[in-house]
Amino acid sequence: MTSRKKLIAANWKMNGSLTMARSLVKEIAVGLDAMPAKALLDTVICPPSPYLGVIAGLITETPIGLGAQDCHAEDKGAFTGDVAAPMLKELGAGYIIIGHSERRLYHAETDEVIAAKAQAVIRTGLVVIACIGETLAEREGDLTENVLKKQLKSLLAISELKPDQMVIAYEPVWAIGTGRSATPTMAEATHRFIRQEISLCLGQDFANSIRILYGGSMKPDNAKDLLSMPNIDGGLIGGASLIAKDFLAIIQAAHLEI
Ligand code: PGA
Repeated sequence: MTSRKKLIAANWKMNGSLTMARSLVKEIAVGLDAMPAKALLDTVICPPSPYLGVIAGLITETPIGLGAQDCHAEDKGAFTGDVAAPMLKELGAGYIIIGHSERRLYHAETDEVIAAKAQAVIRTGLVVIACIGETLAEREGDLTENVLKKQLKSLLAISELKPDQMVIAYEPVWAIGTGRSATPTMAEATHRFIRQEISLCLGQDFANSIRILYGGSMKPDNAKDLLSMPNIDGGLIGGASLIAKDFLAIIQAAHLEI
């Protein structure tokens, strides 16, 4: 039990259609409404950007928050195809995911680019969900801690960072979309290491306040065990967030840990 409010965030990635988005959000809202302690945790949906405006209209009377999956580091300019954090805010986003391993891999995003994007999110007044995580080769080469330390470094160097401006999502790359989740013990040990690193950089109070989510094949059948770990403050859910009943079961599992 901690004072950190649990956060369950859905990362839809580039999936769905407008029709599917509408019905999925409605189903989640109805399911959430039946949960008595819904206000005691944060539930966020991060759909593809084109759906943000429509979904914002559907969640006004619900406790569901809205997030985007990426943004540019600049607020405006000649960046064809890119989207700025203030634009996402206008559509109703309160959170923006930055540095997902799929962005690092397919868009060659470096730690420096990711930190600049995180800064843009914070400057816009939104909460950044900053993803870090090691590949399978890095884990097997005993490099996990070094990799995480390096990924965290530029994020934690953001000046005057406050713990409520950032959420860290620890997502081991080998667990994403593979059905192969980290065991609760393994995830907890890594989360503990991340919190320790944060404490070394920004102090114990900061480290105790910031939320660290686990992501990577979190499903209804492993959510409770992962979310009951003292340093796991929620989840970033990919595949299972596209099925209302599975996503609701994960939210329910988080409820049990409040
Ligand atoms: P997954 O994705 O739950 O499908 O493994 C998690 C993520 O990539 O955020």
